[in-house]
Amino acid sequence: MRSAAALRIFLFGVALAWPVAGSTQATSPAAGPQRALPLDQLRSGSSFMSSDLRAMQADDFANPAMLWAERGAAAWARPVGAAGRSCASCHQDAQMSMRGVAARYPRFDTGTKTLVNLEGRVNLCRTAQQGAAALAYESEELLALTAHIARASRGSPLAVRIDGPAQEHFERGRILFSTRIGQMNLACMHCHDWNAGRRLLSETISQGHPNAYPAYRLEWQSTGSLHRRLRACFFGVRAEMPLPGAPELVDLELFLMWRAQGLPIESPGVRR
Ligand code: HEC
Ligand code: HEC
Repeated sequence: MRSAAALRIFLFGVALAWPVAGSTQATSPAAGPQRALPLDQLRSGSSFMSSDLRAMQADDFANPAMLWAERGAAAWARPVGAAGRSCASCHQDAQMSMRGVAARYPRFDTGTKTLVNLEGRVNLCRTAQQGAAALAYESEELLALTAHIARASRGSPLAVRIDGPAQEHFERGRILFSTRIGQMNLACMHCHDWNAGRRLLSETISQGHPNAYPAYRLEWQSTGSLHRRLRACFFGVRAEMPLPGAPELVDLELFLMWRAQGLPIESPGVRR
């Protein structure tokens, strides 16, 4: 443990925050799921960053994640697989055809009867439409394609559907968000609902929103998916980490997207 003292203070902070937030937590089932964070209190992770990092994210020439988006543009135009088609063969210019798409995922796919996120959706087209092998989660090419698609949605407010067949996935994600996990016995909500804005070791805890991914993280020296970031949080509380793309992470992603609904997409983002 790097700094036991800081951690103790932090855990004390959690204990202090508990009763206050607990009183606002009551939800009436009849009214449907209530927002944990009202729209006017939603703050993107970038608003917790230094002005240097914010400037880096905002400037396409300085933002290192744009390199992945550019590689994604090349992959988008490259014919692959038995069908010899590129993404562009069917979808033309992604900046037009994919506008707003990233804001609507994860989404229930009626064909496969699964909840798919953007990565999963790309792989459905790889296999079913191009006759190519699915791309590995966290592979450079999948990160590149998703960065390219997501940037077409920059500024689009997150708006996922949680009704119909998506509902059970949403509920699972919601339960995971408030379940204590790991040796530190903390739930996502202990940090991201109740302690946003506080310092944890060298970092400021944000509200934990998914609207900037894939993102370049200085700590990774690379671009990574939302699931890579989520795994870092599992690791942080010393919990077993689900694999990237695991169904429970897609369920959690749906809950996070709903929780952040209305927040504009910033992908590809820059994070510490
Ligand atoms: C011990 C506190 C802690 C817990 C528990 C925790 N996180 Fe985090 N999380 C952090 C810190 C610190 C960061 C990096 C700073 C930031 O963006 O909040 C982070 C980052 C994130 C981000 C990226 C936000 C952004 O704008 O880049 C998401 C999303 C997230 N966490 C979700 C979760 C989820 C879901 C869980 C539960 C599985 C969880 N976190 C549990 C501390 C925590
Ligand atoms: C042969 C034509 C074809 C090719 C090639 C193709 N797609 Fe698709 N794609 C489709 C069709 C058809 C749909 C709609 C499927 C549905 O709604 O069930 C779709 C849907 C999508 C969606 C979801 C759009 C939305 O509005 O929800 C994304 C994202 C996507 N494709 C990405 C890609 C990427 C990335 C590639 C290349 C790796 C690709 N597609 C290659 C035909 C194609």
